[in-house]
Amino acid sequence: MKKILPYNKNLKGKTKVLGDKSISHRAIMIGALAEGITTIKGFLKGEDCISTINCFKDLGIKIEEQNDIIKVYGNGLYGLKKPKNTLYVGNSGTTIRLISGILSAQDFSCEITGDSSILKRPMKRIIEPLSLMGANIDSNNYLAPLNIKGSKLKGITYNMPVASAQVKSAILLASLYAEGKTIVKENFKSRDHSEIMLKNFGANINVNGNTIESYPIHKLTPQNIEICGDISSACFLIVGALITKNSHIIIENVGINETRTGFIDVLLKMGANISFLNTRYINGEKVCDIEVKSSNLKAVNIGGSVIPRMIDEIPLFALIASLADGNSIVKDASELKFKESNRIKTISTELNKIGCNIVETDDGMIIEGNRKLVANECESYNDHRIAMCIAIASLRCNEPIALNNYKCIDISFPNFFGILENLY
Ligand code: S3P
Repeated sequence: MKKILPYNKNLKGKTKVLGDKSISHRAIMIGALAEGITTIKGFLKGEDCISTINCFKDLGIKIEEQNDIIKVYGNGLYGLKKPKNTLYVGNSGTTIRLISGILSAQDFSCEITGDSSILKRPMKRIIEPLSLMGANIDSNNYLAPLNIKGSKLKGITYNMPVASAQVKSAILLASLYAEGKTIVKENFKSRDHSEIMLKNFGANINVNGNTIESYPIHKLTPQNIEICGDISSACFLIVGALITKNSHIIIENVGINETRTGFIDVLLKMGANISFLNTRYINGEKVCDIEVKSSNLKAVNIGGSVIPRMIDEIPLFALIASLADGNSIVKDASELKFKESNRIKTISTELNKIGCNIVETDDGMIIEGNRKLVANECESYNDHRIAMCIAIASLRCNEPIALNNYKCIDISFPNFFGILENLY
């Protein structure tokens, strides 16, 4: 399906974005393993998180919604039931990778699969550490479908070869069941929502810099969780306001966990007019209201430890760097090739169609600045973040971009266009 995108607009006013996707997945999974009812306010009802709910329902967990609160009737660490059919994660990499850590330790076997994008995404990164812990996982040459035979696990010390919160979280979830101590060491810190939430539920986890120690546990205690707005969704609106004239927006209640704010740090370095208001903590997560005004930006090079802290925002960086003064380079970002699409390729191809000049490199991009955007027909590659990035670029065009296959936006940001429309 094709959408003619809004164009030549600026953004003004107050808004909120939907709940954080990463935290929403974890609230269902960890809630399902606790003993009793976990309530979740602000859950993201995007397709990916609904896939997590469906998998846990198939594993025998009662999950219901009452007045916008999700109730998860946790059945304890050993309370999951063998599913009748193959578990299906849709497009959600987070679901398949995290749940594999849990399924590795159950007393049943099951199969798990997803859509055509999931069937291409690398699973060796979880199969390897989980197998070292004693898991028994069959795959299609390290790709899904995965066949997981529950086993007795033991703790390991694991130096993460790639910065990945999904891999780290799969190991930490497995460690709840593993005999002895599990240690995970990261070169660069990836998002730490699992560590924060597991600790809140009473897990025995200690974090010291980039090293996490976790011990097995008998019981997790249910929690009342309030999920903050998703910074990765907010970043689309932030860029929309920065790149259009006379824009001024406030996005309320956004999570600003340091492991997620790399892109904001980069924008500040580029000269962005962004302020943080009413900073507070909710369930151990830092939250604030973000105020953004149109800004003239200068180019910047990015690489190293900031990359995992802005991994989902790099397509947006490619857009904003194309409009900044000077040329920018992205390095150390080869992980982008393994997302919902090969985002180095897909974002360069699509932005180049609308007037940018981006050269792909093996681990990133070289981005020419000061470009003028021109409308064209663009593709989403069924990748929600590519689709939204093109929609934000259209705000800066004098004619509309036509975007094919835009429905994938519902994966992480249902009502994206509704929220955008209320701001122009
Ligand atoms: C996520 C981690 C990131 C991110 C994804 C969500 C998570 O992936 O790209 O959108 O919730 O753990 P990696 O950990 O594989 O980099």
